[in-house]
Amino acid sequence: MLTIFRIASFAFIFLFVFSIEDSSAVNVETGQALFFQYCSPCHNVDTKLIGPSLRDADKRRPEDWLIKWIRNNQALRVAGDKDAIALFNGYNMEMPPFTYFSDDQIKSIMVYVDSRPLERASLASTDKIPASRLYLFYAVAGFFLIIIILLLRTNILLVHHLQEVMHENKINQYE
Ligand code: HEC
Repeated sequence: MLTIFRIASFAFIFLFVFSIEDSSAVNVETGQALFFQYCSPCHNVDTKLIGPSLRDADKRRPEDWLIKWIRNNQALRVAGDKDAIALFNGYNMEMPPFTYFSDDQIKSIMVYVDSRPLERASLASTDKIPASRLYLFYAVAGFFLIIIILLLRTNILLVHHLQEVMHENKINQYE
């Protein structure tokens, strides 16, 4: 009985410690929250905004470089890092430093960014819908225009025919 109790409490402590460790480690939820709070004003995942798109930045750049850049890109440039200087020269704006981020927080952002479903696919499909709807609109409008013209034509023909019939009737009456 005592051993079961011991095992149970050991397991409990183990899970407790493990879960605490997990909440401070790299994870997508932390990354998502940080991304929207601090990065999304200037960065999209798949398209260029004020800064470059961030998907696969962790594949383009070594991890330690990325952490240094995000924490303080100015310091990296001052230290003479060629990649950082080239990147900075390609844009008209300086990215602010995030010196208060831990390594795990920065890694979480990158994990979140890479976990996002591709934006391009969704952008392409939302782009197409209005265009095809416009064509549909023109097609329907054209169809109704043709119907209206046909109806007007038939109407005019009917009126003509009616006038003719009435005219003939009058003639018949006088005869
Ligand atoms: C005020 C706008 C702004 C904010 C906010 C911002 N950035 Fe940037 N970021 C830029 C610009 C502009 C560049 C391009 C380099 C330059 O001009 O210095 C850049 C470049 C980068 C790069 C280099 C990309 C590459 O292709 O190598 C990474 C990585 C990056 N930012 C990550 C982040 C992360 C993560 C955050 C949020 C914690 C963030 N940025 C917040 C403007 C911003």
